[in-house]
Amino acid sequence: MVAAPVTGLTVEYQPSPLAVATPRPRLSWIPGRAQAAYEIEVRTGDVVVAHTGQVPSRESHLVEVPGLVLGSDSDYEWRVRVWDEDGAVSGWASSSFGTALLNPDDWTARWVLPKARGTAVERWTLLDWIQGRRPERDVSERLRPVQLLRQRFTPEAPVARARLFITARGVYTAEINGATVGDQVLAPGFDSYASRLSVQCYDVTDLLEDGENVLGVALADGWWAGRIGLTGSSAQFGASTGATWQLHVETEDGRRRRIASDGDVVSAEGPWTHADLFIGERFDMRLHDPAWSTPAFDDTAWNPVEVETADPAVLVPFAGEPVRRVAELPALSVIADPDDGWIIDFGQVIAGRVRLTLHAPCEGDVITLEHTETLDADGRWFVNIEGINKDQLDTYVAAGRPTEVWEPSFTFHGFRYVRVRGLQHPPEPGDFVAVVLSSDLRQTGSLHLSDQRLDRLHRNVVWSQRTNFLSVPMDCPQRERAGWTGDIQVFAPSATNNALVAPFLTRWLENLRADQDADGRVPILSPRSAYDDELASTGSGFGSIVACAGWSDAIALVPWVLYERYGDRRVLADTLDAALRWIEYQRTAAAELPERLRDVSLTPERQQRQALLYNAGEHFGDWLTPSTLEGRPLHEAIGIAPQLTAELVAPMFQAWTLTITARSADALGDTGLAESLRDRAAQVRAAFAAEYVDAEGRLPVALQGPYVLALAFDMVPARKRPLLVQHLVDLIAERGDRLDTGFLSVPHLLDVLWDSGHAELARRLLWQDECPSWLYEVDRGATTIWESWDAIAPDGSVRAVSFNHYAFGCVDDVLYRRIAGIRATAPGFRSVVIEPDLAGQLDHADAEVWTPYGPIRVAWTLTGDDAAIHADVPHGVDAVLVVGGHSTSLAPGAHDLRVTMPTPEPVVK
Ligand code: BGC
Repeated sequence: MVAAPVTGLTVEYQPSPLAVATPRPRLSWIPGRAQAAYEIEVRTGDVVVAHTGQVPSRESHLVEVPGLVLGSDSDYEWRVRVWDEDGAVSGWASSSFGTALLNPDDWTARWVLPKARGTAVERWTLLDWIQGRRPERDVSERLRPVQLLRQRFTPEAPVARARLFITARGVYTAEINGATVGDQVLAPGFDSYASRLSVQCYDVTDLLEDGENVLGVALADGWWAGRIGLTGSSAQFGASTGATWQLHVETEDGRRRRIASDGDVVSAEGPWTHADLFIGERFDMRLHDPAWSTPAFDDTAWNPVEVETADPAVLVPFAGEPVRRVAELPALSVIADPDDGWIIDFGQVIAGRVRLTLHAPCEGDVITLEHTETLDADGRWFVNIEGINKDQLDTYVAAGRPTEVWEPSFTFHGFRYVRVRGLQHPPEPGDFVAVVLSSDLRQTGSLHLSDQRLDRLHRNVVWSQRTNFLSVPMDCPQRERAGWTGDIQVFAPSATNNALVAPFLTRWLENLRADQDADGRVPILSPRSAYDDELASTGSGFGSIVACAGWSDAIALVPWVLYERYGDRRVLADTLDAALRWIEYQRTAAAELPERLRDVSLTPERQQRQALLYNAGEHFGDWLTPSTLEGRPLHEAIGIAPQLTAELVAPMFQAWTLTITARSADALGDTGLAESLRDRAAQVRAAFAAEYVDAEGRLPVALQGPYVLALAFDMVPARKRPLLVQHLVDLIAERGDRLDTGFLSVPHLLDVLWDSGHAELARRLLWQDECPSWLYEVDRGATTIWESWDAIAPDGSVRAVSFNHYAFGCVDDVLYRRIAGIRATAPGFRSVVIEPDLAGQLDHADAEVWTPYGPIRVAWTLTGDDAAIHADVPHGVDAVLVVGGHSTSLAPGAHDLRVTMPTPEPVVK
């Protein structure tokens, strides 16, 4: 008997990866039918390095092969076959992969450092930013040219295989003999460079030639030395850039050779007269010689470089997906700007840059490209991102050829509109292409909703996700581009539906762990620089925060999301210790009393309770709670939500992190640890309820957010829940059925209402279109999710805030789970409930979600009271369909069902 074929072979989530970053990778495949056993064989050349024999097991996802330990820079083939429950065996399915440099002693190359002057060290503070200070000198004086590096080498025999391992302090592009190496952008990406610098691997076999070859590397400041973060301070990781590489060449005669970066490398300045990741770059085509990385090029006038020994412990193999050009958008319109120049509209807010085509420019023409996310209420140019070094300005100097095409290399911008100046003739839309940059994750989910506005909301979330998942999970692609932990903490569940985010977030979590303080504090953003620490130690208020509630908890909550959605236990195991250290920090910090209680005499019971609660210190609290921002300038209002909510929000997250970490410990088999964490969580909850919840179920702060969190995180005894629910419902009614939840509570708002019998109110909030609401933004033409609900105010005025912040897009998970109705009920979708929301305002929804066993899809159409439901259930997933309160098991395969909805009971008032 032959079983159905096995498909979808991946190694660490990736099909045939070139350079797996771990010696013990996990293998996955999709069995054609429910699997009862598997057999795996891994070989390199003719040598079998692991063979499992037949293993009775249902597991087909992230399977660890006992005894499999991979070597560095090697090629492997692997194959798998499975037995189904009837004993039928499939054919072998096979795939291949290579490995990165996996041992620290693999790195023998040295750093090569061009002898250019270092980046000007600019240090700005939060206060400088708030007070609107700006650098006095022009960018041309503050920024420096990109450095070109060249190394000649001769392989000595025809090349059979060649891999280039390379990284930089800065960002680089590489060429061999005039051809671009790979298709990555902004490599090596952003990491906590002091402890981790990612090494890329490229297959360059086809680029090498007989005889002399040249490797050329162009090196810009990037995150390492450029002006990054909110303050726009430079050189946060170092003022000088450098590169290090090893080219591993195997010739056809079987010899292996390493060409390493060393003292024979020479450097010079090239056509980029400056390049900064945030500010933008200036490219002078007159200075560009396309032959600079070919053997024929005369480099006698180039300069020697300095060399430095590399610390191999810091050099880690890059894991996951690199940044690439993931899409191109045509210009929709070109209009003349009354203030000079032309405004190009690409119709979509993105992260990326513009590729420009010039027709017969004059030599020396200077073309500038400014970027913004929105125009003003009158359709005129408006700069929505203010601050130090946020110029987003690219400059091109023409060489005077018939056609010139240019795209920046070392920068990106957040924009929908570009203003171009310096053109001799009115441009055509076809002269401009917006190039979208993103970490190139597999886009897995899909969701289509019959309500056009809700459908647009979903697409806006996907755009915000795609354009902010750029090397790290960023808050926004223009002002800060920082890995704010709170933002991804609230957004991670949504992210898992739209793309396969596990490798990307796992890599970021490694950075976050590296950035954790010795005392257990998990920073509010990662990667974090030494300058961030310096700012916090000298700052006050928000500026002094290193770690805080809801942000730092990402260390426990994000891995749990990856476990729930992808069944990934390794990320839980790898982060558990860091989560425990954060928990321990909170336990110690709980000794501090909130300021208002410091001079109050407390009973011994209260003292004891207070000593359990992590409720003092600076926090962002339920950040950006809408009602607290009304009627005052932002800089005055921004502190009100933290002031009102921090004392409540912090212990609630403390309890939630304890609970989730207990679940993680259980999942990892440490029941003793789980038990003790649960005990601690129960003590924190009891203390919280006694301190903050009165007999009528009231919290000391009459805002929706704390009620939502108290209910979501189970902070009150069961008998008081209905009271809190009622207060929440009343608070929502007071706001005219509009949400008034901040950053931390908004992801839980609709679920809390749904689960407490208020589904109708949850739907009203979802379909609300007055500000603040999700559809209000859609009605104002949003193409991404905004940082502030009123980024365009009801009177049409436009605010200088980010138009691309995914945090409030956390509602997208509700669209998949509650509206379309696909909900995982066991880790990694081993079991699911399919429960379409047939009582809402939709007549059609179609959703597909990735699972380790193949995609699960539900598409439903409601006609009157009749629902037609189509469901595709992969083998290995236990699915239950719930409609109108009735549950039906769905076997693997395709289902088409028709259900007549019961007539609703009349509502008795
Ligand atoms: C960022 C946020 C971040 C916050 C911290 C902001 O400036 O853009 O998204 O989480 O600071 O409160």
